[in-house]
Amino acid sequence: MILADKIAWITGASRGIGRATALEAARSGAAVVLSARSREALEPPAEEVRAIGNGPVHIVPMDVSDPQSIKAAFHEVHKTCGRLDVLVNNAGVLKEALIGMISDAQLDEVMRTNSYSVIRLMQSASRLMMRQKSGAIVNVTSLIGRTGNEGNLIYAASKAAVIGATKSAARELAAHGIRVNAVAPGIIKTDMIADIPSAKMQQLQSSIKLGRVGEPEEVARVITFLASDLASYVTGQIIGIDGGMWV
Ligand SMILES: NC(=O)c1ccc[n+]([C@@H]2O[C@H](COP(=O)([O-])OP(=O)(O)OC[C@H]3O[C@@H](n4cnc5c(N)ncnc54)[C@H](OP(=O)(O)O)[C@@H]3O)[C@@H](O)[C@H]2O)c1
Repeated sequence: MILADKIAWITGASRGIGRATALEAARSGAAVVLSARSREALEPPAEEVRAIGNGPVHIVPMDVSDPQSIKAAFHEVHKTCGRLDVLVNNAGVLKEALIGMISDAQLDEVMRTNSYSVIRLMQSASRLMMRQKSGAIVNVTSLIGRTGNEGNLIYAASKAAVIGATKSAARELAAHGIRVNAVAPGIIKTDMIADIPSAKMQQLQSSIKLGRVGEPEEVARVITFLASDLASYVTGQIIGIDGGMWV
């Protein structure tokens, strides 16, 4: 129960890594707040979290690409929970386009969803955590944010921004008892990778030293560790969860 008595807010909790993290956090004793764009999509994972039975479960719908929606959601979390111990910035989108084909709309959507949201949510959460003099933030970046990838220029840029924001926030917030880390998954079995053609998938898989793609639960466990006091001396770190794809 490494998150006992803690309130953990997880974005992008309707499916994939976010859903797995909400479940792992609940199993670890946390009261969980789940966010994604629609209440309807959050009901099934919230029901799974409730079934674990370790504490209250809150659904707070939010579009992370919209600053007003973030503000409203933060107020709701503050009003309902009164405090916030853990923030997991996991919501994200992947849009593929070669450099010459990138549209302004794609650029705008990916940067607002993957980067600006992380900065805005860290800003709101840290104000509250500073008053508590404690807190842990875990951002979800990507291996591609470190290495780049053909056809993923905007996504890579958006995730590299998360790495810079994580390290800067860790430096600023350490004095206030707040730790900030990120995980950088490689290839994880979720809807996000469902459209990768099988030939490309095989080629990618051959570069994974452990010889297989990862499961969302394998990311969730590392996020939960970083969010917990077991990681009390860890801040400003980017932890790869990629089966040795990047060593
Ligand atoms: N899967 C991988 O191989 C992989 C690798 C590296 C990094 N990642 C990162 O891991 C994170 C989770 O990805 P995943 O693989 O679990 O993908 P996923 O299954 O597609 O889930 C994405 C989540 O983000 C939410 N989301 C997307 N846009 C949103 C918005 N504007 N406002 C609020 N929520 C939004 C979605 O919720 P709704 O659509 O229900 O609103 C969903 O819950 C992402 O940041 C992704 O970049 C994934």
